Amino acid sequence: MKNFEKPKFNNPHLEDLDSYNRQYLESINSPDNFFLNKAIENLDWFVEPTLGFNNNFKNASWFEDGILNIAYNCIDRYAKKNPERKAIIWQGDERLQTKAITYKELLENVSILANGLKAIGVKKGDRVCIYMPMILEAAYSMLACMRLGAVHSVVFGGFSPEAIRSRIDDADCRYVITADEGIRGGKRVPLKKNVDIALEETNSVEKVIVKRYTGTETNWDSSRDICYDDLVSKQEKFCECVHLKAEDPSFILYTSGSTGKPKGVMHTTGGYLLGAHLTFKYIFGYQENKIFWCTADVGWITGHTYILYGPLSNGATTLMFEGVPSYPDASRFWQVCDDHKVNIFYTAPTAIRALIAAGEKYLESSSRNSLEILGTVGEPINPEVWQWYFEKVGKSSCEVVDTWWQTETGSVLISPIAGVTPTKPGSATLPFFGVIPSLVDADGKTLEGEAKGNLCIDQSWPSQIRTVYGDHHRMIETYFSTYKERYFTGDGARRDKDGYYWVTGRVDDVLNVSGHRIGTAEVESAIVEHKNVAEAAVVGIDHDIKGQAIYAFVILKKIEAGQANTYEEIIEQVSLSIGKIAKPEHIQFVRDLPKTRSGKIMRRILRKIANNNTDELGDITTLADPTIVDELIKGKA
Ligand code: WTA
Repeated sequence: MKNFEKPKFNNPHLEDLDSYNRQYLESINSPDNFFLNKAIENLDWFVEPTLGFNNNFKNASWFEDGILNIAYNCIDRYAKKNPERKAIIWQGDERLQTKAITYKELLENVSILANGLKAIGVKKGDRVCIYMPMILEAAYSMLACMRLGAVHSVVFGGFSPEAIRSRIDDADCRYVITADEGIRGGKRVPLKKNVDIALEETNSVEKVIVKRYTGTETNWDSSRDICYDDLVSKQEKFCECVHLKAEDPSFILYTSGSTGKPKGVMHTTGGYLLGAHLTFKYIFGYQENKIFWCTADVGWITGHTYILYGPLSNGATTLMFEGVPSYPDASRFWQVCDDHKVNIFYTAPTAIRALIAAGEKYLESSSRNSLEILGTVGEPINPEVWQWYFEKVGKSSCEVVDTWWQTETGSVLISPIAGVTPTKPGSATLPFFGVIPSLVDADGKTLEGEAKGNLCIDQSWPSQIRTVYGDHHRMIETYFSTYKERYFTGDGARRDKDGYYWVTGRVDDVLNVSGHRIGTAEVESAIVEHKNVAEAAVVGIDHDIKGQAIYAFVILKKIEAGQANTYEEIIEQVSLSIGKIAKPEHIQFVRDLPKTRSGKIMRRILRKIANNNTDELGDITTLADPTIVDELIKGKA
């Protein structure tokens, strides 16, 4: 395996590594100037900002005196210049279901919905929950909120009613936009039914707008439910964009942490959009008329930033895919690439691993000749998987960009820039403009040069998280208190002799299952909701395709209490409380858990037992009952 892959692609925005180094230095030495210039050059402002960063990492603001609108930047400016350019290509679950929307049509579709929302009372600052399948109306809904300055909170369509309810409550949403059903991989998802159940126990929601998609019968509460198509049919075809301050909130997106309930990560208007815009443009080397496809769901940050806001703010054509990589078979991704002549393709390592496992024969029915850039996101990519992606999918002629970032960072922070940064398989390489990564040890000591430690970011970047909705203290606690004056990512990483970063994964109690972030605490509280369960501890185990899978140690109230059923019921309980993505792969019923004398569960030991690393258990003498360790090993699921 070669150590460096030398770029062949010509990035129109950055000449070479020297120009990267020059601009990078400028960006970290004078971030104010650097980003103000970029903001004015790249975005359209109603009032241009004169202020950069406010020098307060924990209460950050960027471009505070600037006034703009995200929807204007993503739609109107291109609808004026290139009205007939395709903005969104929608590819449905079935091959023949496809539709393309021009920038002009996008403007109209978003405007009529924005006018409809306005007519039912939605205004600046209101929170709107969006629980939609991957259809065009999901994009219209998000952008219509942006037009009005309403704050969207998109909930992934795979989440359960209970998960919707808690997100609606937390953000005090008065409106929900949903569809009767979603379709994915040939299966239907009862979205409206889930919303109905969620709303049984919450009072804040006044109106539910329902897109009739599959046309199935659903319950209808005529005092609350409004048909999407009826609502938009009566509206004017243009809606003005509300003028927003750069620091006005744009959206909330819930994400899992190591403790408690998911947090509502809040992003703003100016800084977020600049991050989305610049990373998309530089990292993927975007040029006019290129077709970009990010395979994520709009319910995750990757979908927010790289299906919608990054590509559209660059006037790109973005592909929105309703289906899954395995339906009707494992050639689906490549068939879509050929059908729509995709140039830039962005997916998660877990999807690539699943396709490798399905076999190379699924590559044979496509040419993939249009591909130029291949991106990955969401979890570490194993060098072999990187190589397969490069050689087999990209036929050794595409750039691979491994992009590291988080819901909280808003946009990519560490990644190669296509055509500029020499890559090493498995490494996210170098920081993006304005990003100062650092590695620290457990005591907070900064590690220099080649090192392995906890990954922090030492300086604000425009699209950083502004707050945890309704709980600013929690944001400071979570990200800014582990290490002084630093943002702690929760990830571990290594830096090699060339200064390249290799992110190894979470060092906290957050799991990454198929690229989805899941908190162990959330799964544990879901499990203990089962009536027979006394206590539960959840850890991650290595999984060839998913990256990690969930392993649960469970203490039942009565050991005899019908364990066979309980097993299934616990799994069901997790689906009900969170969603299918959080279902445990294994459950081991146990008498007790390894606890210290003060009652703290030693997760380190559980992790080793679950992963069969029992040779390196370390010191177990501090346990209240050391004999439990052997018992757990013997009883492994
Ligand atoms: C992980 C997804 C290694 C990491 C954009 C991070 C990665 C978490 C990479 C954030 C990568 C994301 N290499 N790990 N290229 N990208 N991660 O909030 O553990 O859903 O902290 O955002 O995914 O997940 P989130």
